[in-house]
Amino acid sequence: MTHVFHRHLHQTPPVAVAGRGVHLIDAAGNEYLDACGGAAVSCLGHGHPDVLAAMHAQVDRLAYAHTSFFTTEVAEELADELARTAPTGMDQVYFVSGGSEAVEAALKMARQYHVEIGQPQRTLFVSRRQSYHGNTLGALAVGGNAWRRQQFAPLLIDTVQVSPCYEYRDRRPDETPQAYGARLVQELSDTLDRVGPDKVIAFVAETVGGATAGVIPPVPGYFRGVRELCDRHGILLILDEVMCGMGRTGTLYACEQEGIAPDIAVIAKGLGAGYQPIGAALLSRRIFDAFRDGSGFFQHGHTYLGHVLACSASLAVQRAIEREGLLDNVRRMGSLLDAKLRERFGAHPHVGDIRGRGLFLALEFVADRATKATFDPALRLHAQLKKAAMAAGLMTYPMGGTVDGRRGDHLLLAPPFIIDASHVELIVARLGAAIDAVVGALPASALRPAA
Ligand SMILES: Cc1ncc(COP(=O)(O)O)c(C=O)c1O
Repeated sequence: MTHVFHRHLHQTPPVAVAGRGVHLIDAAGNEYLDACGGAAVSCLGHGHPDVLAAMHAQVDRLAYAHTSFFTTEVAEELADELARTAPTGMDQVYFVSGGSEAVEAALKMARQYHVEIGQPQRTLFVSRRQSYHGNTLGALAVGGNAWRRQQFAPLLIDTVQVSPCYEYRDRRPDETPQAYGARLVQELSDTLDRVGPDKVIAFVAETVGGATAGVIPPVPGYFRGVRELCDRHGILLILDEVMCGMGRTGTLYACEQEGIAPDIAVIAKGLGAGYQPIGAALLSRRIFDAFRDGSGFFQHGHTYLGHVLACSASLAVQRAIEREGLLDNVRRMGSLLDAKLRERFGAHPHVGDIRGRGLFLALEFVADRATKATFDPALRLHAQLKKAAMAAGLMTYPMGGTVDGRRGDHLLLAPPFIIDASHVELIVARLGAAIDAVVGALPASALRPAA
């Protein structure tokens, strides 16, 4: 019997023993093509020699130094690197150990910023439904994932939530993408007016929605409208790029493609590519100055802030991505994967939508394409797909509750940036086999839309 408290207690996962390039290998010798980087993490694949060498060298020199006593060369270097490549105006970095922690830091940083500048009446966060910002209580409170929140709701701070930017489901047939985006901005504006814009600390959003609704990219102009609205009311914009950032969509930050920069950007996952746990909140000079000219102290702090081994792995990852020109490969392989998915599933009766950017793509499954009716949630189609894909030697990241936390199924793909055309072919072929196996085994009653 295992003494590990696993994620799911009614099934035992295979034992992973090795990682090589785009593959993970289990104890029985099965190889899995990692088409999702775990949860969009392993952007450099597994076992990259430069990252391993950097980590070995670091651990031989120094394995830990607490940040209330010391800074380290490697943390300074990584911060320099991130400041050099960050969206315009953002040049300070606060290091933590993962995505949820980075979101927590960003929320507290935003609140303390307003206290520092003499606006302590700002106490409210506005965020979006069908979002995910992490599993700690603050991150869960701003998150809009209904099933993750449900049993913890009595413990969560009050937040106000607006609609996600979910074009496939919510854009009206008579609306252009721009008009749809403008409608969402108007909804946000009305919400701010209702709660009182001077009470709001920040608007929090994933630039490209990730795990909850399955890769929902913003429509043109949406984030420009959001940015203007935040500026007009002195509200901070926190963009969560934990999943969509660090090159996943073909640019280092997804918000570059929207022509805007946030006040605080939250990153993790691809920052350390899974070689070490690391996350960060990047902040603008304006926010940093308020702290420097105010109390001079961010009232936060964890034991493992700026961990040297995590920083050394992350620095090596970021340098490898740049040196190997991998963002270019993300764009090229992203277009190829998108095209091949459309070729294979574009007319599939149960694939309603294929969407995404770069190597961040998803399929949304429907019982009926014309009405977009979902499958019965009791089928747990997403779980069946994950299992069938694993059996076909493919790691994917499916999820249920796509539409409202209960209905809908999608499957997310986020392969390593190092994939080539032959991997793309394999991903589509194995995915096709998994989908055919699952859909083919569904009873006829399952193909009727869910109530
Ligand atoms: C957008 C987003 N924010 C935050 C998180 C939380 O990150 P972590 O699981 O590293 O705490 C995730 C994780 O999936 C995420 O996708």
